[in-house]
Amino acid sequence: MNTRLLALLILASFAWVSCKKASTDSSSASSTDTTFNTLFIPPTLTGTTFNLTLSQSSKQFFKTGAATTTYSYNGQSIWGPTIIMNKGDNVVMNVTNGLRDTTTVHWHGFHVPAKMDGGPHQKIAPNATWSPNFTVMNNAATYWYHPHLHQKTYEQLTMGAGGLIIVKDPIEAALNLPRTYGTDDIPLVLTSRRFNADNSFDVTSHAYGDYELVNGTIHPQVSLPKQFVRLRLLNAETERAYNLGFSDNRTFYVIGNDGGLLSTPVSVTRLIMGVGERYEILVNLGNDAVGSNISLKAYNSNQAFGFPGAEPATSGEFGSLLNNTEFQILKINITAATAGGITTLPNTLVSNTYWKSTDATSSITTAINGGQGGSAFYFDNNYYNYNTINQTIPLNAVVKWSFSGGNIFGHSIHIHDVQFNIVSRSSGSIAPYEIGWKDTYFIHLGETVSVVAKFSDFSDTTSPFMYHCHFPNHEDGGLMGQFIVK
Ligand code: C2O
Ligand code: CU
Repeated sequence: MNTRLLALLILASFAWVSCKKASTDSSSASSTDTTFNTLFIPPTLTGTTFNLTLSQSSKQFFKTGAATTTYSYNGQSIWGPTIIMNKGDNVVMNVTNGLRDTTTVHWHGFHVPAKMDGGPHQKIAPNATWSPNFTVMNNAATYWYHPHLHQKTYEQLTMGAGGLIIVKDPIEAALNLPRTYGTDDIPLVLTSRRFNADNSFDVTSHAYGDYELVNGTIHPQVSLPKQFVRLRLLNAETERAYNLGFSDNRTFYVIGNDGGLLSTPVSVTRLIMGVGERYEILVNLGNDAVGSNISLKAYNSNQAFGFPGAEPATSGEFGSLLNNTEFQILKINITAATAGGITTLPNTLVSNTYWKSTDATSSITTAINGGQGGSAFYFDNNYYNYNTINQTIPLNAVVKWSFSGGNIFGHSIHIHDVQFNIVSRSSGSIAPYEIGWKDTYFIHLGETVSVVAKFSDFSDTTSPFMYHCHFPNHEDGGLMGQFIVK
């Protein structure tokens, strides 16, 4: 180990252990180790009419000092409730803006009309309520909702606004999978924050936080039963990617990605997640002793430059105490199995037919430019313009859309309206767990990635959909474009 790395590790562990701000949480730890906080599990909303109110809130993250001002939906201390929807339902979303600032709410991953999408054009003024309605056409999977007002996305997300959406459907329901929310089916929203001296969130230094938060909980632990459990992971970071694994390097099984279940479980010991991506994994706790524990960790040390969070600096705009380290995400305490818990891994999941390159009826190529010397990024030599339509796609076109990552850094690419299949990565092969219905992917430094999607059902000659980097600071800086389907 080189001395720089050793120094970093010492610094990072010093920050955790001696932690002038010994962490605490409004929910105090209930299990074996009182230096940990009990993982917050967001409450759920069910039915077909969903009411969300965004407002300012506060949360006590540290034992000493002031509470932190946060944003949340429906009066939580941070983040928002988990919305549970059934495929085929016609739903109404009543979104009320209780902030003093304009906002929007985007249904990330959903196939809905552009006017219902909640992008930068569907503004919600302070005290106003926006009420889109749509039919849930998406497959059973884990999606999310979050603010998307141009040049406010980074700030409102960082303050804590966002929430998960779990879609259920009959195909998923017929499988022998864990699905008791909060017991063996656990949402894990991964992000990090930097705090100012007065405990407020730092919403100005743009890339990385120093403290890992899982569902808004610092230094969390959870009790999980001795059986197969399902973790629904979302990378809700600003830039950081996660190279996930368990502390004993056990094998786990990826069963779903952004827009649906995979055809078969994919076994891995590490899983890389870029910003905005979701993965559902199964982990077998059936061989663990009751009372023992394991940890979910980020093995983020020694990544190549361009992997967000690999930078060695411990402070500053592109540094953090978590950069280029292995850090604990979640302590898992094993408890007794539940009655009827899942004890076997399914061999097959759902039958998927993904788009191939040869299915494409047209193609689009988009280049990432800019970013020199820390300046903003943009697509195809233009910063995002609210009034410019960058691409027009014929209704029902099957499009091969290629992005070239540029030579400065990695990014997360997200396309609204569709679920696509990744058909090529110029840097090498596509990880087996990435093959599937996706709406967001990580693009490495210097790479070109192609996806294929069909733009069906919703045409609108005036309302655009967005495509952008999902790093909210990059998106706010102009790394976004818009397309109409007509
Ligand atoms: Cu998660 Cu354009 O958004
Ligand atoms: Cu980016």
